[in-house]
Amino acid sequence: MPVTNKKIGVLMGGLSAEREVSLKTGEAIYNALVRAGYNACRIDAGRDIAEAVRREAVEAAFIALHGGAGEDGSIQGLLEVIGIPYTGSGVLASAIAMDKEFSKKVFVFHGLPVPEFIVLKRGGRVPEIRFPLPWVVKPATEGSSIGVSMVDDAAGLAPALEKAFGLSERVIVERRVYGKEVQVGILGGKVLGSVEVRPSTDFYSYEAKYTAGKTQYILPPEIDAKMLGKAHETGLQAHLALGCRGASRVDLILDANGTPYVLEVNTIPGMTETSLLPKIARLSGLDFTALVEEILKEALGL
Ligand SMILES: Nc1ncnc2c1ncn2[C@@H]1O[C@H](COP(=O)(O)OP(=O)(O)O)[C@@H](O)[C@H]1O
Ligand SMILES: [Mg+2]
Repeated sequence: MPVTNKKIGVLMGGLSAEREVSLKTGEAIYNALVRAGYNACRIDAGRDIAEAVRREAVEAAFIALHGGAGEDGSIQGLLEVIGIPYTGSGVLASAIAMDKEFSKKVFVFHGLPVPEFIVLKRGGRVPEIRFPLPWVVKPATEGSSIGVSMVDDAAGLAPALEKAFGLSERVIVERRVYGKEVQVGILGGKVLGSVEVRPSTDFYSYEAKYTAGKTQYILPPEIDAKMLGKAHETGLQAHLALGCRGASRVDLILDANGTPYVLEVNTIPGMTETSLLPKIARLSGLDFTALVEEILKEALGL
């Protein structure tokens, strides 16, 4: 039985660089909702999104947008103003999670392990970097590993900065952490489980993320239970520190001592049937439709 008779608009596509992935996520969610008997429709979240939501008489929004306005709090703000409940994190949490400078500052305040970092502004001076090489350079406001570079020697810094500043006015330089990369799935204020990500490339790059066979996904992770427990707890604390709601996926790297360094919180994880969060959910006993319903229930306060 559907948990609500409200008309659900699946907001998908949109204007960001991640439009194509979002269309796949949206299609999978829409199909699951229809199969489960919901009154659902698909809405391409372009410039006319407010009119489209009204035209379709949408009563609740399932946000299936990745990157840009759909993930950074803008669409969430629009839905607040027009009074439509929506899935996932609110305006502030979405905005902070999308910004690596501000999210790191919140993690540090909460005492969560974060690799040492500095923030540079476009056109500003590059200070002496006091933590050791190798470094990671990344734009403050991107995703999908776009503009991320590994810097092994001082000479590699300038080209890496140039690349990252081409995408964002602020750039993060941080210490590279070596170890196991783990992503923790959170739903409804609880840890769902996690996946270990083993790219065949130097790091989990755009290519490793989106080329079939380039990365091995280990579910559950092959990691000592105590260390994994600590990673799960840290992932949940990172989600809560930003004030996130609904589903999220937290990126962590565990160093040789098992310290779980937080990289970021993704507030709108991929939700195709083969995406990581649905895989994590399945292992915890929630199939794709059940996961979609849980996210919807939280949005509607059910
Ligand atoms: N400090 C770091 N140490 C080691 N690897 C890192 C570090 N920061 C990022 N990476 C690598 O780059 C990838 C993308 O970085 P991330 O901060 O998650 O940005 P994005 O939003 O693009 O996913 C990570 O999944 C990881 O493989
Ligand atoms: Mg990431």
